[in-house]
Amino acid sequence: MRKILLNTVYYGLIGFALIQFIPVNRTNPPVNASENFVEVLKTPKEVRALLRTSCYDCHSNETVYPDIAFVAPISWSIKHNINKARTHLNFSTWNAANRDLKTDRLENSIEVVKSSKMPIAGYTAQHPKAKLDPRERKLLVDYFQGVLDEDAY
Ligand code: HEC
Repeated sequence: MRKILLNTVYYGLIGFALIQFIPVNRTNPPVNASENFVEVLKTPKEVRALLRTSCYDCHSNETVYPDIAFVAPISWSIKHNINKARTHLNFSTWNAANRDLKTDRLENSIEVVKSSKMPIAGYTAQHPKAKLDPRERKLLVDYFQGVLDEDAY
């Protein structure tokens, strides 16, 4: 019994060490200001700061990876989520999308911020500054709604 346990721990540790060599691409794609949401829409300072602290780590090409993102298999899970988040909405490549997609993204953003689905709870647990209070949620929702209403996108 003891031997089985020791073997499990031993091979488990070897396995853990080995998966660290499987590469995860954490290089951010280049950011082009002419496509970046906050530059294109000249987003006001306060909203811009909220987007940067609460959304940009997942929904942009300016991700700042936490230290834990260097330890497999957590690194795989984080990268997987970032890839998924970027396919839904990437503020860095905002202007590359067509009009319908932009409309969808603005409407979806309103919905997920209103319903507190975003930023993801697991993320805010690690990044308390990214938490949005009710006033900040309203500010973001009103901003997205304003962009839609003014038809300025
Ligand atoms: C920790 C990473 C992370 C952060 C931070 C984050 N998101 Fe997301 N977001 C995701 C992931 C992952 C998905 C895809 C969810 C899925 O496929 O179920 C997503 C999906 C979305 C979607 C698409 C929802 C849909 O139903 O189509 C929108 C819009 C969105 N996020 C907006 C935001 C906004 C706005 C913020 C900041 C207030 C934000 N997110 C913060 C990871 C994040």
